Amino acid sequence: MEHDVEVAPVNLAARVDDALAVQALAFGLTEDEIGIRRHIVLRHLLCPGAHALGATTPEGRLVGFVYGMPNDRTHWWSTVVEPYLRGNGCDDWLDDSFVITELHVHPAYQGRGIGRSLITTITDGASQPRSILSAIDVESPARGLYRALGYEDLARQVLFPSAPKPYAVMGAPLPLMRGA
Ligand SMILES: CC(C)(COP(=O)(O)OP(=O)(O)OC[C@H]1O[C@@H](n2cnc3c(N)ncnc32)[C@H](O)[C@@H]1OP(=O)(O)O)[C@@H](O)C(=O)NCCC(=O)NCCS
Repeated sequence: MEHDVEVAPVNLAARVDDALAVQALAFGLTEDEIGIRRHIVLRHLLCPGAHALGATTPEGRLVGFVYGMPNDRTHWWSTVVEPYLRGNGCDDWLDDSFVITELHVHPAYQGRGIGRSLITTITDGASQPRSILSAIDVESPARGLYRALGYEDLARQVLFPSAPKPYAVMGAPLPLMRGA
């Protein structure tokens, strides 16, 4: 990874606006969605075991972040994906699993190993034996990265209420796979 950008624990609640600005550029968010996401992120960060890492330039600019938490079957995300995983006989992935809730890197800083460093560092710190996440169900840099780290499809064409595009749910054993 580029050595002038540091990946380290970050107080994401204090930097939620910076994080959402990165997400808006990387993923695309409307002003309305930013306002809604702000509340959701702040609530997520209060969950037991929630953990966040930031990628920061020497000037202190946040250019990437990841956060996640031990999965809880009562959380909204888990209740949406559960029937899809159960239909494929793999809903046990919802237990003893660290869920990656968001991962985003500023477009000007993509392709330098920052995303890989964020997700491998946060999962290395998890005590669970596996990790799960969802990504828009298209071929994308995110899907390519997740596969390279050992994530495999657990369910596809998963529909979240209010999200226009279907998602894939992916799971990987921890620690994540490293390249040769
Ligand atoms: C997904 C994302 C976080 C990756 O961050 P990044 O810092 O650019 O990723 P890295 O430089 O660490 O790349 C790691 C791996 O990702 C994959 N990858 C990265 N860019 C890719 C591309 N354009 N096409 C295919 N695979 C790609 C490769 O496997 C790459 O490994 P390699 O460099 O050894 O080939 C970033 O692209 C992003 O923010 N995308 C938009 C937001 C998003 O989709 N977030 C995920 C929501 S589920």
